[in-house]
Amino acid sequence: MYYWDYLGLDEVLGSQQLASASGGRRPAHDELLFIITHQAFELWFKQILWELDAAIETLGLDPVPEPSMGQVVRHLERIVSIQPLLVQQFQVLATMTPLDFLDFRDELIPASGFQSLQFRLIENRLGLDPGGRLKIKGARYTSRLSAEHAARLEASESEPTLLGVLDAWLARTPFLRFGSFDFWAEYRRAVEVMIERDRGLIASNPSLDEVVRQQQLDAFEVTSATFATLFERERWDELRAAGKRRLSHGSFLAALLISLYRDEPALHLPFRLLTALIDLDEGFTAFRNAHAQLVHRSIGGRIGTGGTSGHEYLEAAARKHRVFTDLFDLATYHLPRRELPVLPPQVRSQMAFRYQSEPDAGPAVG
Ligand code: HEM
Repeated sequence: MYYWDYLGLDEVLGSQQLASASGGRRPAHDELLFIITHQAFELWFKQILWELDAAIETLGLDPVPEPSMGQVVRHLERIVSIQPLLVQQFQVLATMTPLDFLDFRDELIPASGFQSLQFRLIENRLGLDPGGRLKIKGARYTSRLSAEHAARLEASESEPTLLGVLDAWLARTPFLRFGSFDFWAEYRRAVEVMIERDRGLIASNPSLDEVVRQQQLDAFEVTSATFATLFERERWDELRAAGKRRLSHGSFLAALLISLYRDEPALHLPFRLLTALIDLDEGFTAFRNAHAQLVHRSIGGRIGTGGTSGHEYLEAAARKHRVFTDLFDLATYHLPRRELPVLPPQVRSQMAFRYQSEPDAGPAVG
């Protein structure tokens, strides 16, 4: 095996054709950086898809073999560690000033990162709702891709997604049923106590004037109505049908339980999974924001070569094209540890690992 051949460097390093140099013209100096940066992104996108596919395949198993859960988390954590590199690559590209870019920008029309097949596949694999995407002058996101790429993307819309397999896995977790212990009735009671106490604090706060007090009480009612959706499945399903929730009701409750009792040993790994998904979503938002900033400084308020409004479209996409917002919203429903329902001993022992030896049983594992 020879290093150069193993890495296919003839193909990789021979794939930077500067459009500005065609016809024997003097090349625009910064075009090489522009091409290499995009290629580096696409290589990392390939790696991200590789990790995503593996994570989806394993988490999609029913049941997921216990030893494989750690692997799923590691696939996702690897993506999370790639994401800052992507943001940093935009900083490198920002050394190309707007004037430098104008030396070759017109050569690119109508090509655009908007046509990045791999980026769109990542979005679809994550579980971005095709119906919730921003439309460009009424057109679908596939409309600017080649017929072959558009067909691949449309097919990917009905393939398993990370959100979908997460939803199914959460719905199957044993963390919702505890024999005779009705966790959700206990939790609801604890929430009601908290809501009453917080409402009382606003009502009796001497430093608030009546206008501000009423504003705070109104805002508070919105929060307590949000809590109510947790206990009303039909209301939850309505929100889900409207695209305001993505996880099913039972899955969201399972995720909430995992995040509330994440100190219990059996929940350590599930909690790491949820955290990795939040990090992943945040990482793509950071990518989108960094890209939008770069676009603003590079082309100002001009429209993109792909025909969108440019940075304004990209900022809107950063806000809208998120997948795991439900997991971010879990924090709405957190109670301080001291107010959480105490799990009965038999439930806690089901969730325990024992690393220390027990007096009579000798060393215990698992
Ligand atoms: C000076 C550098 C860049 C400029 C001016 C720029 C400009 C734009 C613009 C204006 C759009 C919106 C679509 C359009 O109207 O064309 C876009 C989309 C996109 N660009 Fe860039 N871009 C740059 C660098 C990059 C790089 C390095 C990547 C890495 C692959 C990239 C990936 C994308 C992706 C994935 C989209 C689609 C985003 C979405 O629809 O949410 N861009 N770009």
